[in-house]
Amino acid sequence: MRVSVLGTGYLGATHAACLAAWGHQVVGVDPDEDRIGTLATGRAPFREPGLDDLLREGVSSGRLIFDTALDAARDAEVHFVCVGTPQCADNHAADLTALWRLVDDLAPMLDSPCVVVGKSTVPVGTASRVGDRLRGRAPAGGDVEVAWNPEFLREGCAVQDSLCPDRLVLGVENDAAQLRLREVYAGMLADGVPLVVTDLATAELAKVAANTMLAARISLVNLLAEVCEAAGADVADLATVLGFDERIGSSFLSPGLGFGGGCLPKDIRAFAARAEELGVSRSTDLVHAVDAVNMRQRSRAVQKTRDLVGSDLRGARLCVLGAAFKAGSDDVRDSPALDVATRLHGAGADVVVHDPLALPNAERAHPELSYEADVTRACTDADALVVLTDWDDYAALDPVALSQVVRHARVMDGRLAIDAEKWRAAGWDVRAMGR
Ligand code: UDX
Repeated sequence: MRVSVLGTGYLGATHAACLAAWGHQVVGVDPDEDRIGTLATGRAPFREPGLDDLLREGVSSGRLIFDTALDAARDAEVHFVCVGTPQCADNHAADLTALWRLVDDLAPMLDSPCVVVGKSTVPVGTASRVGDRLRGRAPAGGDVEVAWNPEFLREGCAVQDSLCPDRLVLGVENDAAQLRLREVYAGMLADGVPLVVTDLATAELAKVAANTMLAARISLVNLLAEVCEAAGADVADLATVLGFDERIGSSFLSPGLGFGGGCLPKDIRAFAARAEELGVSRSTDLVHAVDAVNMRQRSRAVQKTRDLVGSDLRGARLCVLGAAFKAGSDDVRDSPALDVATRLHGAGADVVVHDPLALPNAERAHPELSYEADVTRACTDADALVVLTDWDDYAALDPVALSQVVRHARVMDGRLAIDAEKWRAAGWDVRAMGR
């Protein structure tokens, strides 16, 4: 089938590569010339395991092409909308500028029957407005179908999550659009991926609902971490106990610095903003509390570091271990680690940041901090280490060897990433979130 993918950020680039792998003829369109230039050579403009291979295969097979001109998408039978919907600069709602610009540019080109499928995360109600606007402006009029097909991919496993998702959600207005999308995803459906066919509004909500549930779990476990600290209990053991309860399960129960990244924070805020627009404002207190508990972990991490080095951070040399918003990624968007590093720097500390992958992105976002790619050099002469991303590399550090290079053997573990007993045995003063 001829398909287009409009917007080739994280979501769009991965989706385009997967569509080509399923045998479709795909054109990826994005106005960003650098991004399209990189993708056209079969490489991803960001780090994502397995994606380069898939892009290379697609491009060399001729099934996957990229273009900066929307006109290249003219002949597609199905258009996937994958533009970004960031948080508005001045409030918590989603900024739909890119979406509406695309809809207005696309409409005049739609002169034959087609399906426009939203994958971007949008406030509930947007899909039906997109449909009205496209049908009102497109030469094909009522022959333009609109569907919503949310994406649940996680950075670091985006290819796997796209090729073998744990569910496929199709929000449709009628059977014609559903049949078209079943053709697009025929391979995946034959493999037995569970399918939920629903209306547009439910499909739009699916993504923000999932992210709100995940965020709530993390904030709940972090609330428990605070109580553990106050009560002298151990949150890691407590999470293990909870995880054995089948009704609760163990995933997304890792306590620490809390959630960040390009999705969870902005999605829960946009969800609350939209719920309030719809008149559901009393109960959104719960979502605001999830956000507040999450942001509080960052202040707690700063306070714990301050307690560790003495009351004043001014002049203290701190080695921050981790800049990415989570292990396995080079993404620093709304990274809790970088936020804490910046706050420590703002409090007068001399901060050196290490990360196995994210240093170039971190340096671009926060040029005011110092960076060091070699972990031993980063730790040298430190008054304290501050572990802020849960990289396995940090769990594997040798506390005995490091105690020889630091000025003071002190560590604040914001991700419960290191073996506290082992570090204490090597003479370190260890503080951790929730212990
Ligand atoms: C998330 C959703 O998981 C995914 O389904 C959606 O499509 C996009 O948003 P992602 O942003 O890649 O994916 O990251 P995720 O793995 O969900 O982690 C989000 C944040 O939560 C990270 O900062 C991570 O460190 C933190 N986290 C995660 C915790 O603090 N504790 C946990 O137990 C799990």
